[in-house]
Amino acid sequence: MEENENIAFDIMQVGFPTSFTEIKEMTMLYSCAMREICTKLENLSQEFELKEARNPIQHITHRLKKPESIRNKMLQKGLPLEYEIMRDEITDIGGIRVVCSYINDIYAIANMLKQQDDILTVREKDYISKPKKNGYRSYHLIVAIPVFLSSEKQIIPVEIQMRTIAMDFWASLEHQLRYKTEAQVTESTRTRLTNIAEDIFHADVEMQQIYDEINSMG
Ligand code: GTP
Ligand code: MG
Repeated sequence: MEENENIAFDIMQVGFPTSFTEIKEMTMLYSCAMREICTKLENLSQEFELKEARNPIQHITHRLKKPESIRNKMLQKGLPLEYEIMRDEITDIGGIRVVCSYINDIYAIANMLKQQDDILTVREKDYISKPKKNGYRSYHLIVAIPVFLSSEKQIIPVEIQMRTIAMDFWASLEHQLRYKTEAQVTESTRTRLTNIAEDIFHADVEMQQIYDEINSMG
């Protein structure tokens, strides 16, 4: 796989993890774990579609954290650059983003996922009911999933970020603005972005109400 080769090359440049076996193993394990979760999400989406006659999931994306970012995060956290420590402490190497239609879809899908008995909920952060100070909203679920290999089983963490289309719109643009033009983001700009996040949330709530009203009419 081309993606894996690039990652391997990246790691060699960064110098951590050091051995080629570690690099290949890491890439394989996290890709397997993400695939397991993506399949589960697609299955849930299909069932939901069958029962509700609509798809609650707009789209799913996934990414493998770049070795350089893993390394930087470990250094920031003051962690020694060791493979075992990376595996235990960095829970967002495998990241999945699920963009849903309505707010309630997020909770419905998250609850269905959490109930599956091969999934362990590691951490849950509800930034929808408790947004970040800057207005960021999303539901973050860190799960651990077994990946079965020929002679062993490894438990691998995956970070799932769940949002509505509107929340995704805000988070994507805010991320771009923050990382590309950090120096120019003034206090007043931040306030404006936070206000937009609030407006967007009201739109999400309103959309949910409209959906509920239409559906209660039968
Ligand atoms: P990280 O070290 O960044 O993983 O932070 P954390 O472990 O405290 O997790 P948190 O739940 O705060 O955020 C994890 C991820 O959520 C980030 O890597 C982003 O993808 C996303 N995120 C969190 N806060 C923001 C935000 O203010 N804006 C945007 N655009 N994304 C955010
Ligand atoms: Mg992160």
